[in-house]
Amino acid sequence: PTSRVLAGRHVLVTSGPTHEPIDPVRYIANRSSGAQGTAIAAALASLGARVTFVTGPASVPPPPGTNVVPVETAAQMLDAVRSAMPADAAIMAAAVADWRVVSSSVQKLKKGESGPPTLTLAQNPDILATVAGLGSDRPRLVVGFAAETENVVENARAKRLRKDCDWIVANDVSPSTGIMGGSENAVTLITPQGEETWERMTKEAVAARLAERIATVLS
Ligand code: C5P
Repeated sequence: PTSRVLAGRHVLVTSGPTHEPIDPVRYIANRSSGAQGTAIAAALASLGARVTFVTGPASVPPPPGTNVVPVETAAQMLDAVRSAMPADAAIMAAAVADWRVVSSSVQKLKKGESGPPTLTLAQNPDILATVAGLGSDRPRLVVGFAAETENVVENARAKRLRKDCDWIVANDVSPSTGIMGGSENAVTLITPQGEETWERMTKEAVAARLAERIATVLS
């Protein structure tokens, strides 16, 4: 039995994809299953943390013993994250859609004689950067993820600085890795102190190791 080293701490975890509506029946999404975020929330809860789990429409069930806040869009996720503050740490594992459809249709779009519709997209808010920039309300530890398909560590390093988060968990989500939607992950943890590449392991094992590291900062 692990000791409850995170008892009394509040940790926010975002997870899953977001869905950005096109019309009442269609949306833009991505291939995130929510498996890694779910495993992280479960691992933090098992160390005794109070966990707020803000999740988009994931394909795995949310972890028991957490405070689950289901959302659909990036805008809703940002609202839920703001409402969850203050937190001692924020672990932003969600695969937030970068773009939303500017004016999604109230009615289902029809195949018409005018041909296919043109979707105009707008940039979604960056939830991680928003949390990292909170000032006095900023969680003590803000952890982002960088899912990349090329120059993984270089891109992740730049992302850590640009978003002003403390740590970045970088992973290669090229289809050949089987990581996105799969049961294993191979990550590099980037901190101000340095970089560690972990061997490929189950997403639960990555979560347990990350939760232990988070506990060393918060306890
Ligand atoms: O910029 P990119 O999407 O690659 O950054 C990934 C990291 O930023 C993840 O931690 C993700 O949860 C977070 N993110 C966010 N809000 C966005 C885009 C990404 O919180 N709109």
